[in-house]
Formats: sequence, structure tokens, C-alpha cells
Amino acid sequence: MTTNQPLKQWSERALNDQLSQWQNQYQGLDGGNLKLDLSRGKPGVEQVSLSDGLDGVLQGNYIAEDGTDTRNYGGLRGIAEARALGAELMGIPAANVMAAGNSSLSIMHLVIRTAMDLGLWNDDRLWSNTDKPKILAPVPGYDRHFSLTEHFGIELIPIPMNEDGPDMQAARAATADPSVKGIWCVPKYANPTGCTYSDNVVAALAALPASAAADDFVVLWDNAYAVHDLYDEADTLASVFDEAAAAGTADHVVQFASTSKITHAGAGVAFVAGSTKVLDALEHHLGILTVGPDKVNQLRHVKFLQGRLQAHMADHAAIMRPKFQLVEDVFSRELAGLGIATWTKPKGGYFVSLDVNPGLAEKIIAMAKSVGLTLTPAGATFPNGDDPQDKNIRIAPTFGSLEEIHAAMDILTLCIKTASAEQILAAH
Ligand SMILES: Cc1ncc(COP(=O)(O)O)c(C=O)c1O
Repeated sequence: MTTNQPLKQWSERALNDQLSQWQNQYQGLDGGNLKLDLSRGKPGVEQVSLSDGLDGVLQGNYIAEDGTDTRNYGGLRGIAEARALGAELMGIPAANVMAAGNSSLSIMHLVIRTAMDLGLWNDDRLWSNTDKPKILAPVPGYDRHFSLTEHFGIELIPIPMNEDGPDMQAARAATADPSVKGIWCVPKYANPTGCTYSDNVVAALAALPASAAADDFVVLWDNAYAVHDLYDEADTLASVFDEAAAAGTADHVVQFASTSKITHAGAGVAFVAGSTKVLDALEHHLGILTVGPDKVNQLRHVKFLQGRLQAHMADHAAIMRPKFQLVEDVFSRELAGLGIATWTKPKGGYFVSLDVNPGLAEKIIAMAKSVGLTLTPAGATFPNGDDPQDKNIRIAPTFGSLEEIHAAMDILTLCIKTASAEQILAAH
């Protein structure tokens, strides 16, 4: 390429010449038997191996601080030291934290089910009393939040996600409707944009239940990436717990976190935090679902992470940083200045969010697929899988090796350039 001018400003002839070269390169990839994947938002093998010390850490001592034998039933709120670990992760008093089973997603399921049909506040406020309850979905967002909500027949209302968090003007306007019952938030290193909510947005979200028309509005605060910093200079997140206390909305903010991407994914400990009233209601209903969480695993996690959570996360960052840097380097080298894509540069979390020119995401994903690169399906970051502008692609660079990511990024950027040049020429 001879110029980094926006492709739209190239002469038709120059662009045609360049397109032929890109098309030739793309044809050359065909049949290369590649099996590359940028869709898996999970830790790599090296990362999960960091926590193999969990195995055997108890050395035969199963007794918790307060004398509880963790090998036996009971203790729905979790052992005290695991709740303290959750408190450290989430920056909340341990009294407001419940340490549960292996998955925060399953606790989100419990919270939605409870809000819908059973009651979060031990009174008669149920979302199911409303004909068509709705939840706000900042977009692009986390696909599993969307599928969980839709599973309960709750409608999702997309609102824009800005660089400092959800668009609060849109959120406030939407909550004038009493059938709007909540908002999904991934406040630090959001999935997929990587943004961290600003102090103002955190305060505004904490105040939202007070101004919402619904008296059973809930802020669903999924702090999945609370400690997942890539750099020493990390983003800081204001305390929604403190802001909610100040705004008088403590009963209407429910927080989640887990060790899924700290230790072994899917084999860790999940946490839910909220007011005593809400935790009491959740514990009551959880008690129907289970006799108690896996307290042995809770104790293993405490013993393994105690006093070294930061150091452990720094070990993760050392593995992940070069992968995110590689994504940034290839995007910059191949696409900067061409006016055909924008992408995020997160300081933590698991994803990079890529926006291509409207109308091209599905096409680019299909082009990549046919030469052996799997990407997250188009629309996955929007409710009902419907990205109205067909432009967002979620990149997950953690699972593959550096070599695989490099090869995948070369293909992805070639597909973006080719599809964009074809689109521009077709419009001439
Ligand atoms: C925002 C967010 N929340 C929750 C989860 C899943 O958490 P868990 O394994 O605790 O169910 C993920 C996993 O990708 C996630 O990105």
C-alpha cells in the first residue's frame, strides 16, 4: 500500500489496483487448511495453569476459620473467609457478600428469577406483575446477559454504550416507562468494549432506581473483570455500593463477580453482593435449589489466593498483554488512517471491540470463516443477535497462541480491507 489516506479518497483506479492485490492475497489463503479462532473469550492454557496450585493446597485441612467442616452440607452464604475474598474483589463489606457456587451467571439467573416471580424485597413487588417487563441493554454488550434476559421473556431495550459507560440520558429517558425494571452493567473493562464507567456514570447509575418510574428497578452490576488489569496503570472504578448508600438505593443494586477468569474457568467461586434484605431473599430461594455451595472449593480458593491476589493477576496480565498488544499492532499497521474501521484499546478485561463500516460485519465474518478463521457471529453483541448497523465484531485474543493470533489478525485485516474497498467501489 502506498498511502494511508482514507480509502474513500483514493482514485477509483488506485483503489481498483489495490483491491486486485488484496483479492489475490485472499484467494491465496483459500485451501490453506487453517483452523484459527478469535471467538473464544476464555483464558489460555498458560493462564489456567497458573492456578494448578489449587490442587492439594488444603493438605488435608478442611476446617474453616470458624470451625466449619467444609466437607459437609450447609452454609448457604458461604464460609466467612470466602466472603472476605469476594469483599476484596468487589470492594464491598463482607457482610454484604454471599460466596456461592461456581458460576456468577447462575446467580444472575437466580436474581432475575427472584425479581420476576418470587420477590427480591420480601414484599409483593414482582416484575411478573407487569405485562411486558423490560431491561436496558447498553450495546454492544455481553451476549449471555441478553440470552438470560430473553430466556425469562423479558424484553431488552438497547441503549448506546459510550466510552465512559452507558448513555445516561438515554437510560433516564427509558426509565420513565414503569415496565423498565433494570439495566445490565459490566462496569470495569466492559464486555466487549473494554471501557470502564466514569465516576459520574457510576453515581448516575446508582441514583437511577430513585428516579425510575418502576419501584422495583434493579441495577445489575456484573463486575466480572474487577481485578483483570493488563497494565500497572489500571482503570479505577468508583464504588457503586457507596454511591447507592448515598442515594438511598442500596436495595436496588445487585453486584456479581467470580474467580472464573482468576483461577480455573468454570471451577471457581461466584459472588453476589447487595443489601441484607436482598441477600436474605436470595438465600431463601437458593436454599430450595441447593443445600449449600462447594465450601471445599471456597476454602481452596481462599488458601490459594490469600494475600497474593494482585500478584496472581499480574501473572495473568504478563501472559495476556502481548496478545492484546499484537491485536493493536496489526490493526494499527494494516488499518490506521484508512477510514474503514475503529477498535478499542482496553486496559483490561478479555475483549477488543471492532467497528467496521456499516453493512460489512456479517460479510467480513463470512469471508474470514471461508478461509479458516472463526469470529464471534455478527450481531452477537446486540439483543436478539441483531446489530442494526451490522458493524460490530467482538475480538477475543486470550485463548490462542501469539502465532495463531498473528495469523488470525492478518486474515481479519485483509478481509476488512477487501470488503471495504469493494463496498466503496460499488458505491462509486
Ligand atoms: C461480563 C461477564 N460476566 C460473566 C461471565 C461468566 O462468569 P461465570 O463464569 O462466573 O459464570 C463472563 C464470561 O465471559 C463475562 O464476560
